[in-house]
Amino acid sequence: MPNDLLAEIVSAIPIPTLVVDQTERIIAANTEARTMLGQNIEGRHFATILRQPQVIDAIEQSLRSKGSSKTRHLSNDGAQDTTFEVQCRYMNGVGAVEGGAVMVVFQDVTHLEQAGQMRRDFVANVSHELRTPLTALMGFIETLRGPARDDAAARERFLQIMTDEANRMNRLVGDLLSLNRVESEERVRPREQLDLTGLLQSTLTTLRPLAEAANVDLTLDTSSGPISVTGDSDQLRQVFTNLVENAIKYGGSGGNVDVRIQASERDTAMRGPAVRVQIADKGPGIDAVHLPRLTERFYRADSHRSRELGGTGLGLAIVKHIVNRHRGRLRVESTLGKGSVFTVILPR
Ligand SMILES: Nc1ncnc2c1ncn2[C@@H]1O[C@H](COP(=O)(O)OP(=O)(O)OP(=O)(O)O)[C@@H](O)[C@H]1O
Ligand SMILES: [Mg+2]
Repeated sequence: MPNDLLAEIVSAIPIPTLVVDQTERIIAANTEARTMLGQNIEGRHFATILRQPQVIDAIEQSLRSKGSSKTRHLSNDGAQDTTFEVQCRYMNGVGAVEGGAVMVVFQDVTHLEQAGQMRRDFVANVSHELRTPLTALMGFIETLRGPARDDAAARERFLQIMTDEANRMNRLVGDLLSLNRVESEERVRPREQLDLTGLLQSTLTTLRPLAEAANVDLTLDTSSGPISVTGDSDQLRQVFTNLVENAIKYGGSGGNVDVRIQASERDTAMRGPAVRVQIADKGPGIDAVHLPRLTERFYRADSHRSRELGGTGLGLAIVKHIVNRHRGRLRVESTLGKGSVFTVILPR
């Protein structure tokens, strides 16, 4: 096959591709390969261009065996790592004196790798979160069977702890199912017309007992009157319940939690009509290092306190998915020692 025809074929392949013939030189490369490996790679010995030993080995092996081989190539453009799966396939009748050549194709598998890693991390996290209460339950069962068998007072106390631990597991499983449901419907747009002010009022009513128990003054500014939005009322209730509950649980020491709702015709973040719901506390605040990761599953800024308060660390992950489904935004601002403001911006 003439080399210019080969060059045409290679240039039509949409991912980085090059051809190495039996002289061990690169005889063709497409634009994608040149962007990745350098502009003047044609005519060069492949080992001077592809320096990673496993890639050199794979190409050599393919040239020698006249067969296929496969390996990984890691590249870094200064900003991020990219993982490629490199496939080497032998072609007869191509290259110098038509002695055959190897086509080397680089397929970007970074996203697959990341998804795999996330899945492994997630399973590890879930197992750990479930194991902690389970270990406690098993310990108390042992104690109740043995040493505390005839101690009525101890039995009562242990049963209470066991109930708390079982509740924690129950909540965790409930949150996981909820997260799963929210994620699977994330691309389905909600259609219900609802009054956001009314929804906030009724959400806060159910949270008043919690606020009172924590000695927190919970206020809602309803001066804007009813505000109509398209959304899923159950899910939005879940969003505001978690944000207000967090403000009470983690920011309650500041004494008050204020919820504010504000509609505008042209929101700077949404570039159109939108409504902002702001939940502000005057608690200890969240260190800036935690802010970017706060909506990750199981991420807790103060894990000791969160666990103590029965938190699963899934609340904000659920909030984020619900807000995404509503094509909205979640903003978090926090100053250490002054408090935190969580803002949900929804399009109208
Ligand atoms: N208003 C707040 N002030 C200070 N820290 C907060 C505030 N809101 C959230 N956080 C921190 O963010 C973490 C994540 O919150 P998230 O709602 O995802 O989980 P959680 O409240 O621990 O568990 P769950 O919501 O499932 O009960 C919390 O553990 C807490 O450390
Ligand atoms: Mg929470």
